Amino acid sequence: MSLMTWSEEYSVGVARFDTQHKKLIDLVNKLNDAMRVGKGKDVLAAILQELLDYTVYHFKSEEEAMQKVAFDGYDEHKREHDKLTRQVLDFAAKFNSGNSMLTVSLMQFLKDWVLNHIKGTDQKYTKYLN
Ligand code: FEO
Repeated sequence: MSLMTWSEEYSVGVARFDTQHKKLIDLVNKLNDAMRVGKGKDVLAAILQELLDYTVYHFKSEEEAMQKVAFDGYDEHKREHDKLTRQVLDFAAKFNSGNSMLTVSLMQFLKDWVLNHIKGTDQKYTKYLN
């Protein structure tokens, strides 16, 4: 069973961002599946990098869209993006240097990270980006 499943309650009302969120969820699930079946460090590092790259791309897409409509929650949202990016960057650096392992609690952190951000922050822009 997948760690995370997208459902309508996570919709931000903007089709391309729903699509990007589904891709983020797929990547977290892919990392979780690879960890559970005991894939090697190189495979896990590659998926982690893919997740990081896609996160950066997604955050930038949202930030551009928010700036375009001069959304007044932009600064707060951007700060959250920067914090989340730093957290994953820090973890990836520790993992790549052998100082950290992928664990069930880390996967739970990533799951909460994605879902709490969508529900707590992303959904605030719904009415402005439509
Ligand atoms: Fe969908 Fe603000 O990240």
